[in-house]
Amino acid sequence: MTEVSSPASAMAEPSPAEQIRQDFAPPQVPVEAAARAMEAFARGHHCEGRRVVLITSGGTKVPLESRTVRFLDNFSSGRRGAASAEYFLQAGYAVIFLHRQRSLYPYSRRYAATNWLDVLRLQPGEEAPRVEAEQSRLPGIVHILQDYGRMKEAGTLLPIEFNTLSDYLHLLRAAAQALSPLGSSAMFYLAAAVSDFYIPASEIPEHKIQSSSGPLQITMKMVPKMLSPLVKDWAPKAFVISFKLETDTEILLEKAQKALATYRHHVVVANILDTLRTLVVIVTATEETKLSVSEEEERAGVEIEEKIIKDLTLRHTHFMDRAEVN
Ligand code: PMT
Repeated sequence: MTEVSSPASAMAEPSPAEQIRQDFAPPQVPVEAAARAMEAFARGHHCEGRRVVLITSGGTKVPLESRTVRFLDNFSSGRRGAASAEYFLQAGYAVIFLHRQRSLYPYSRRYAATNWLDVLRLQPGEEAPRVEAEQSRLPGIVHILQDYGRMKEAGTLLPIEFNTLSDYLHLLRAAAQALSPLGSSAMFYLAAAVSDFYIPASEIPEHKIQSSSGPLQITMKMVPKMLSPLVKDWAPKAFVISFKLETDTEILLEKAQKALATYRHHVVVANILDTLRTLVVIVTATEETKLSVSEEEERAGVEIEEKIIKDLTLRHTHFMDRAEVN
């Protein structure tokens, strides 16, 4: 039978997946190998009775030229994602950590600003000098090494890197396909700050944009929101958490509610740029819960991510219980 498409469907907007195929340069990372690794990791841990969370972390790079000299970036350091990964691991989850290359990484994040040449010392050895670390310059290192060692032994962290927006979009889809068979025991924790704008592959200049051509004017297209196919098609039974960052408190909660109504996922973690590390609101369709870290707690080293993960893992348990009943 020949399929005849109606004028309306011929005019329809391409799906996000089609838009990625048509408009984006091929990813610069090995997506198929990553997809196989994520699938094996998710299946293995699920069989051992662990819940699996996909954490996205860091910003995305949007090239302005195809032989890229310049690109559009954003402020995200990856601290939220990296810290959250540690607390999810502590809570017994297996973690796929989909992060921007060179953004903060679980455990080592605490020493990201350390100049190692100031920490390491040469000590005389029998045949050649030995290298020793000055422990006092690495606060908390014993506990961190213990936690890191336990995680390595259990094999509960799978790091996957992205760099460009195209990498991120392809890898997110592969991750969703890997986690979908886990049903309600899979969680998506989308903390990455993904660019809202891009230049389609067909319009991007090949060579470096010349300043001799005068002031630069660029028109960028809107990046499709991946939450929509993720929730509807790619992993419809999973527990999905997105993040919302604003700089204006007045619009934050309204935007979080709007995202829930649009994408029909489960939770939005709402944060404001100025208070990112000490205050978030956990927003669901029916309630808003403030989580904060006091100055005293901050001094004692308490991190807001610990509270976020405690809250969300409990919500995930209730979500799984309800899914079992239905
Ligand atoms: O990395 P840090 O420096 O610690 O900063 C953490 C953070 C501020 C980046 C983080 O807490 C945060 O708020 N991240 C989301 C930023 C945001 O406002 O995203 P958005 O409104 O553009 O997107 C909404 C959600 O959809 C996000 O969960 C995003 O990861 C996801 N998204 C967005 C666009 C897209 N094409 N695909 C997506 O999956």
